[in-house]
Amino acid sequence: MAIERTLSIIKPDAVAKNVIGQIYSRFESSGLKIIAARMIHLSQSDAEQFYAVHRERPFFNDLVKFMTSGPVMVQVLEGEEAIKKNRDLMGATDPRKAETGTIRADFADSIDANAVHGSDALETAIVEIACFFPTLNIYSR
Ligand code: TYD
Repeated sequence: MAIERTLSIIKPDAVAKNVIGQIYSRFESSGLKIIAARMIHLSQSDAEQFYAVHRERPFFNDLVKFMTSGPVMVQVLEGEEAIKKNRDLMGATDPRKAETGTIRADFADSIDANAVHGSDALETAIVEIACFFPTLNIYSR
């Protein structure tokens, strides 16, 4: 199986709930390694750029407002099929539809405040990782 990297963000709602450690422990238990990490408070232009693909969607402004409402924890996860594995751990976008035991089912309140982000494909992962981490700050083991 392919070793992949994916970008994960613990969103402002989950940071405020003090569950960074609980979410990290799910990554680690599933075999994913945290190979880069930083806490930042996104600016409006950071968030607009990051979610540019959703610019025309009705929820875009609220999404940007939410993502800039407090600090986020951003990390690169590495492991076998890291992209899918992380998406499986996250659960469905709408926490009401997320499977029991997933991060969103356990920690998210609503479709807009849904605890975590995870890259959805190899190409997006490469672009998203580059938004936050220069190669020299990624510590692959
Ligand atoms: P999306 O990429 O569809 O979901 P995911 O985060 O599961 O990859 O949407 C990006 C974010 O936009 C999503 O995490 C929360 C927000 N969003 C809404 O606020 N309302 C919506 O109806 C949708 C589809 C997304």
